[in-house]
Amino acid sequence: MNDRGFFISLEGIDGSGKTTLKENIIKELGRNHSVVGIREPGGTLVSEQIRDLVLDARNSGIMGKTEALLYAAARSQVVEEVIRPALNRGQIVIADRYMDSTIAYQGYGRGLDLQFLFDLNRICTGGLYPDVTLYLDIDPLEAYCRRQGEVQDRLEQEGLEFQARVRGGYLVLAASEPRIKQLDATQGRQQILDQALDLINTGLLSRNRN
Ligand code: TYD
Repeated sequence: MNDRGFFISLEGIDGSGKTTLKENIIKELGRNHSVVGIREPGGTLVSEQIRDLVLDARNSGIMGKTEALLYAAARSQVVEEVIRPALNRGQIVIADRYMDSTIAYQGYGRGLDLQFLFDLNRICTGGLYPDVTLYLDIDPLEAYCRRQGEVQDRLEQEGLEFQARVRGGYLVLAASEPRIKQLDATQGRQQILDQALDLINTGLLSRNRN
């Protein structure tokens, strides 16, 4: 269980601006706290190798369930090697993607059974859920326009319809899970950062009171 530190995850479709937000949050929180940033899939030597495998555009033959299991394997490793130890030391962990990506992409995007994926998430994380999840909501076409000119990985090549299904999944999750806070990703960077910091500070305060 996460008794000491504070665990934040960032979610959204490709091009929603999570990575920039993560860097800005780390800069701000880093003034007063010890913060560890990770990205998923990735964050450890083993998980980064799984990332290379799963995102490689040549691996178009990966089946949906295989893909889900690979993400879960990468997550299991980063939870045990990095996230849980950091939380036990009392640090703040901020993850660029975590378990909700699996529900949104492999569940709503690929159509895999949702219950299987919820179970898989619980198993591969040992039940470690974020204290707060910031979901950056954006229309897939707008996100696509932002990313023009970048080299696309295997999942980004899936196209707008896929991204629209993924977004639909995130919206369902955000409406049903109180830990997930939805932010409008089309706002200016500073506005998004301010809202994110408000939500994080509220979470930190209520944790300190308990
Ligand atoms: P990444 O380059 O990190 O994308 P982004 O910069 O948009 O976050 O690539 C991660 C890709 O992997 C992204 O398309 C989402 C996908 N993904 C899943 O499909 N399932 C998962 O469980 C995770 C963690 C990521």
